[in-house]
Amino acid sequence: MLKLETNSIAPRWEAMASYAQKIVKAHQKLHDGSLAMTGWVDLPANVDETYLAEILAVSTEIRQQYTALVVIGIGGSYLGTRACYDLLEADRCGVELFFAGWNLGGRYHEKLLQKLDGHDVALCVISKSGTTLETTLAFDLLKEYMEGRYGSDFSDRVYVITGENSGALHQEAAGKGYRVFPLDEEIGGRYSVLTSVGLLPLAAAGIDVTALLDGAKEAYDDLNCDDMEQNPCYQYAAYRNVLFGEGKVTEFFSFIEPEMFQFGFWLKQLFAESEGKNCRGIYPSALLYSADLHSVGQFLEEGHPIFFETMITLASDAGINVVQGYKKIYQEHTMAMVDAVYHVRNEKGTPIVKLTIDALDAKNLGYMIYFFEKACAMSCLLMGVNPFDQPGVEAYKSHMRLLLD
Ligand code: PA5
Repeated sequence: MLKLETNSIAPRWEAMASYAQKIVKAHQKLHDGSLAMTGWVDLPANVDETYLAEILAVSTEIRQQYTALVVIGIGGSYLGTRACYDLLEADRCGVELFFAGWNLGGRYHEKLLQKLDGHDVALCVISKSGTTLETTLAFDLLKEYMEGRYGSDFSDRVYVITGENSGALHQEAAGKGYRVFPLDEEIGGRYSVLTSVGLLPLAAAGIDVTALLDGAKEAYDDLNCDDMEQNPCYQYAAYRNVLFGEGKVTEFFSFIEPEMFQFGFWLKQLFAESEGKNCRGIYPSALLYSADLHSVGQFLEEGHPIFFETMITLASDAGINVVQGYKKIYQEHTMAMVDAVYHVRNEKGTPIVKLTIDALDAKNLGYMIYFFEKACAMSCLLMGVNPFDQPGVEAYKSHMRLLLD
């Protein structure tokens, strides 16, 4: 389902093997519950069927009653849903999703309200803490909008996904009678896309979330092995650490299909927020080809060699629709571009790996999400940082709250 190509891994195999024992211990910690915030690790193998059935039933209700669902949230409460929604564009057959609260642009939100005028609207507000200012502001704005359109009793149009039994949002939801989906306290925002955070809005958009979970379960089975030699996910984690030791402090995730680019934003958060602490961590960035080959390509070729590249591509027989008569030509050009990138990176000694997925569908996406979550957590543990906290983000949040108070 996901193939890791190993050209630049082979010469580093000995250095990577020095992590093998650490990997065995970290794997155990991830799976045995001794590490906090690891609720996502065994999630694909223990899907709560009652909870899933409830999500599916409510998503059907949303699809039947409304035409638009505004997803209000930021960071881990937004990026995963957005990435899946963009990537699975071809599978959508439900309500249209709109996104609010991920920026503080007044014009953005004004235009959003104008777009909503043509729709029958419901809201899905997502915040684990229930206190994030960007989310709260957008929710206030949208509540006012809803009142203007539907009168004061619009509570049946509001769905809330928030931390279990705590926080301001939870209290408000209980008071107003909004439908609440509680979040597992042991799963942090950036590891939460396979919970109600992603599943509810995506199912409302008509995306097959059961297939998403099936893909994650397949990854869980394939990657539940503490032997680095047998586990490509842990090979990738060790490889990243070896490169970090070589001074490669930036990772470029590169994509060819524009639908996949939002997945790059999800990856950036996952790795930056998990790994960037104690003055350590590899800075994640995302590139979209061919566009970026004609803009930052010069830096990649001749600039400061502080980076390595992880190219995420689709298998050539993935069955992508292209304008009639051009399928073969597009395939040939894409292959030539990938070969050219490989050639120039190899000539410069820039490490590059390729991760190829079989198809752009929900099952493959679920697999890829789990692969990267686990690779990221393992990479952090090998680097000696806590993958599951975000003290820097919390510092920004509380300072902003202080200023506004
Ligand atoms: O991954 C994380 O923990 C963060 O990015 C949060 O998801 C983000 O800050 C939003 O927080 P909350 O869900 O509490 O509104």
